[in-house]
Amino acid sequence: MIKKAVIPAAGLGTSFLPATKAQPKEMLPIIDIPTIQYVVQECVDSGIEDILIITGKGKRSIEDHFDRNLELEERIREREDEFWYNELRHIDSMANIHFVRQKEPNGLGDALYQARFHCGNEAFAVLLGDSINDSNIPITQQMIDAYEQYRHTIIAVQQVPDNRVNRYGIVGGRFLSERIMQVSEMVEKPQVGKSPSNWAVAGRYILTPEIFPAIEQVAKTAPQEVQLTDALRLLLPTDGVIAMKIDGQRYDIGTKLDYLKTTVEFALKRKEFAEPFAQFLRERLAQYESSK
Ligand code: UTP
Repeated sequence: MIKKAVIPAAGLGTSFLPATKAQPKEMLPIIDIPTIQYVVQECVDSGIEDILIITGKGKRSIEDHFDRNLELEERIREREDEFWYNELRHIDSMANIHFVRQKEPNGLGDALYQARFHCGNEAFAVLLGDSINDSNIPITQQMIDAYEQYRHTIIAVQQVPDNRVNRYGIVGGRFLSERIMQVSEMVEKPQVGKSPSNWAVAGRYILTPEIFPAIEQVAKTAPQEVQLTDALRLLLPTDGVIAMKIDGQRYDIGTKLDYLKTTVEFALKRKEFAEPFAQFLRERLAQYESSK
């Protein structure tokens, strides 16, 4: 049973400057909840008990967010605000959360390599710290179930428009069933028209310890940009990598437009905001259309 998860959150977030100059992209809130808290919640909802977050320079607020804030708790308690007191205590007791630093942002493969001692000989889940999901069964739970069945590396995938394949890691292979593909090819950001498929890697993985020597191998040739895709490609001939189509909606917050869309979607899902916000959007859109 998979009980450990790794959340890489040490990237520079250059696509989101200037907001990410002095704060982590993973702490950008979707309304009032930092993105990484949704990611940690997905772990918890999937039965994960132990989470390792890979942080780096300038990521201190992630550690603070999952730690107790005694001064704030005291103030809230004085106000007899039981709801917020419980919410604060919920955040710092969600799971056993550990932190390790990636010294330089040398790519996702290098970030995960920092987890090698923590994960030891066990398979583990990986959830990118800048992508969140909405699904009946948490995506990580779906992946863990697939791992129980196949006992190989599992990569979450989703279909993307053919003209956007150049923004993603893309897998190609043979479908074993409606949602499961035996992967035979992996390419990072292929050119439009030269992609093996339009099945894009969707920010969630189940990895086995075999990934660590593969990452070492990649780091020998590209130490500054250690791509996880390159390490996974090395596993293809021997380890039988499986791609699983996710059942749910994925939201990426890594780019500004995606972040805006995610915020609107989540506002429309929140009971207290849905009606007034929808009303605002209707009026605003009508104004926008008529002023064009
Ligand atoms: P991204 O490539 O989307 O993040 O990595 P980034 O490098 O911060 O993005 P830009 O292009 O500069 O805007 C996906 C996840 O992997 C983590 C990131 O923090 C993000 O959550 N990551 C990426 C690391 O932990 N270390 C790295 O060296 C790179």
